[in-house]
Amino acid sequence: MIQNLFEPVEIKGIQLKNRFVRSATMEGMGTPDGYPTQKLKEYYCRLAQGEVGLIFTHGTMIEAWKNLPETLGIQSPFSIHSDRYINAWQDVVHAVHAGGAKIAMQISHLGRQDIPELRGSAPIAPSAVPIEESGVTPRQMGVDDIENVIESFAQACRRVKEAGFDAVQFHGAHGNLINNFMSPFTNIRTDHYGGPLENRARFMTDILKRTRQVIGPEYPLMIKMNFNDFVDGGLETNEAVNIAGIIAEAGIDCIEVSGGTLSESRSHIAVKGIKKKEQEAYFREYAKALKEQVSIPVILVGGHRSPDLMARIVEEGTADFISMSRPFIREPGLIQRWKKGDLEKAKCISCNQCFENWISRPLRCYVDNPVREKQ
Ligand SMILES: Cc1cc2nc3c(=O)[nH]c(=O)nc-3n(C[C@H](O)[C@H](O)[C@H](O)COP(=O)(O)O)c2cc1C
Ligand code: SF4
Repeated sequence: MIQNLFEPVEIKGIQLKNRFVRSATMEGMGTPDGYPTQKLKEYYCRLAQGEVGLIFTHGTMIEAWKNLPETLGIQSPFSIHSDRYINAWQDVVHAVHAGGAKIAMQISHLGRQDIPELRGSAPIAPSAVPIEESGVTPRQMGVDDIENVIESFAQACRRVKEAGFDAVQFHGAHGNLINNFMSPFTNIRTDHYGGPLENRARFMTDILKRTRQVIGPEYPLMIKMNFNDFVDGGLETNEAVNIAGIIAEAGIDCIEVSGGTLSESRSHIAVKGIKKKEQEAYFREYAKALKEQVSIPVILVGGHRSPDLMARIVEEGTADFISMSRPFIREPGLIQRWKKGDLEKAKCISCNQCFENWISRPLRCYVDNPVREKQ
């Protein structure tokens, strides 16, 4: 009944053993200066042994942050802003491959949502649109800033490739810099990086152009993108689908469909309280619209819980890959369980305690570890 989810599939030359993807999830298992730890390696090996086909790391920083002071109470994200990180990742990648999974690094610039204390200066963004909740107003990027960040993305991709990862995923969703450029809410520029959607796509197409110069045409480049910002005046599906068409033309090989921003519409990223099947796969209409526009593979994330619905989504051609975050936090061996024939839906109850605590605490399922929480 769900055999199609276990078919081996290819994305631009990467052979995946099935259609299951671990969506990028902040693990909180990095050192204060952004290196992966032994704990992280073991965690990824558990996911690989649990039969996940492709693992995305969490959003890894392409620019230097200050070392995280413990007093700030923030988990360290990974960094790939310098060549010195390459060796540390080779070991992790090798271990994941030995476990039978593929691994891609998600790379990120936080843009408007960056943390001033850690950047050492105001966040940068296409336009100076303040964030109401934090009161932070970013500095509008000049053309030199744009060129610098494009180069940082391209060099980060080179390092990811040199570390042996199977692919890169640009974090272009959830209110990060690439999304800031695509969204008419956060990009009110009047130069050729703002205005009509072709201009708002330009930052990403420039990144792709430069990246391809640096790493060549063959290496798989993916993106996680918003198909709805859930903000008045923000990016909506029609425009996002057209932008996706432009970036596919410019060299993106695979798109993961997502929505919502951390600064304005967080509750839409990881929807809480998914109980009924009708609430599952909540971005599926966007994936459907995207599939009509592009011929590259589409990954769908957001609220997948029941394997029969996932199989139907693939069967109907709505998406090619099924991506999950929270279900794997509760059950790293979920896919193995389904493969063995226990098709009960994912045990994650979407309470979102993991999502609410991801900045301040290492990743875990709070339902399964209530005692540690009280200590
Ligand atoms: C603890 C936690 C950390 C996350 N970190 C990231 C991240 O680094 N990058 C990203 O693109 N999405 C991140 N997400 C969002 C997930 O990848 C996913 O899009 C969202 O949780 C919806 O999928 P789900 O219903 O399978 O959880 C995170 C989600 C959670 C719960
Ligand atoms: S804390 Fe556990 S049950 Fe709650 S959303 Fe996270 S993984 Fe799911």
